[in-house]
Amino acid sequence: MKKYQNARGTVDLLPNEIGKWQTIRKLIDDMCFVYGYKEIQTPMFEDTGVFKREHDTSDMVTKEMYTFSKNGVDSLTLRPEGTAGVVRSFVQHKMYGNQELPAKLYYVGPMFRYERPQKGRQRQFHQFGVENIGLKSPLVDAETIALGYSVVKALGLSHVKVLINTLGDETSRKNYDIALREHFKEEQHNLCSDCKRRYEVNPLRILDCKIDHEKESIKHAPKMDDYLTEESKQYFNEVKQALDALDIPYEVEPSLVRGLDYYTHTVFEVVSTHPESGAQATIFGGGRYDGMVEYFGGPSLSGVGFAIGMERLLILAEAEQVDLNKHVEADVYVMSLGEVGNVPLVVTSQLRANGYYTEYNIEPRSLKAQFKSVDRFKAKVVVIVGQDELKEHKVSVKDIASQKQLQCDIDELIHYVDHFFEECHEGCQCGKE
Ligand code: HAM
Repeated sequence: MKKYQNARGTVDLLPNEIGKWQTIRKLIDDMCFVYGYKEIQTPMFEDTGVFKREHDTSDMVTKEMYTFSKNGVDSLTLRPEGTAGVVRSFVQHKMYGNQELPAKLYYVGPMFRYERPQKGRQRQFHQFGVENIGLKSPLVDAETIALGYSVVKALGLSHVKVLINTLGDETSRKNYDIALREHFKEEQHNLCSDCKRRYEVNPLRILDCKIDHEKESIKHAPKMDDYLTEESKQYFNEVKQALDALDIPYEVEPSLVRGLDYYTHTVFEVVSTHPESGAQATIFGGGRYDGMVEYFGGPSLSGVGFAIGMERLLILAEAEQVDLNKHVEADVYVMSLGEVGNVPLVVTSQLRANGYYTEYNIEPRSLKAQFKSVDRFKAKVVVIVGQDELKEHKVSVKDIASQKQLQCDIDELIHYVDHFFEECHEGCQCGKE
């Protein structure tokens, strides 16, 4: 019989490591709440055209998409990133018409890219992303970087560096494209086949080529900075001033162009500086995009956003020995002694209804075995349901830390358990120290 394993480039997230993911997820939800972001969930596949927009020369779109068709007519693609689907949804549901702009949206979920798997690079991976759509301002760019940076910092990670750059406005880009074409005019024949195509359609992409990046002509290519319009320079200066005011350390990296085609003005990445992070050191990336809302048939609104690769965040956390495991410890363990029927289950259900994470003994087992379970679940309080006590409608409650034990009526159990989890008042008779 064939033994199946998870597909190459995917991983099973097992229960013993899911605590880390839950810790990050909670932090993301809390952070987005204070920044006023609301969650959006868009489908995991879309019409291919949502991702494959005209003149897009990025590797993600041209090489890495999982595209399929069920009837030979419709072409669908598993989402390789979140931005396009969110903007499609923003336009489809006319979010620009009925609410205060900018719309502040965030998402967490799997993305799919057909890439060569290695540490920090999977075919199914997870992103936490945000999109802030509807207001073009350097303040919003800085605020967006601050949000991503705050998440990384709040997780306790310190080996990170913020890199920023600007791709300028449309005029700056056009001027820069001309300069790049001129620069690569002779050299283009020595570039890889992809770069030959990039030369024709979008020469900026040559700078981001994984094959040619060591070539001298790329190293000595013209710098964007020299082709920026005054407005673009001013915009970028204001982004930097706002980052300074927010105390966010950053470096301007003139060669940062990002791997996706839709950016204008500010682009940024946060990279790990930890030696154990491996080759895939970019934890998150993002930037401003001007034309996408219009592409999907909406008004001329600009957006800015980023996406954090959750797997890469976890690799860095491990390298920095930051323990993100949420310690899932039981509050109460309900033991059973003798013939007690379904009472342990009923008691457990009452405790759970009162908010206590409770585990209980199901099968007849020795006391020793049951105490082992108490240890394994790290329960703080034990309730013992015993055959004899039950005749008087009573159970015993034990506080593990103080080893104090008392007997109480089953109807008063919650009160006593509450007590073991609270501070006692002076002169309290509960028996707890
Ligand atoms: P991206 O740079 O393509 O941007 O991806 C963002 C992050 O996703 C990367 O920095 C990396 O941490 C993670 N990532 C990408 N590919 C993989 C992979 N194969 N395996 C593991 N992690 C990966 C975007 O996706 C844009 N949508 C970001 C954005 C949002 N820009 C504006 N708004």
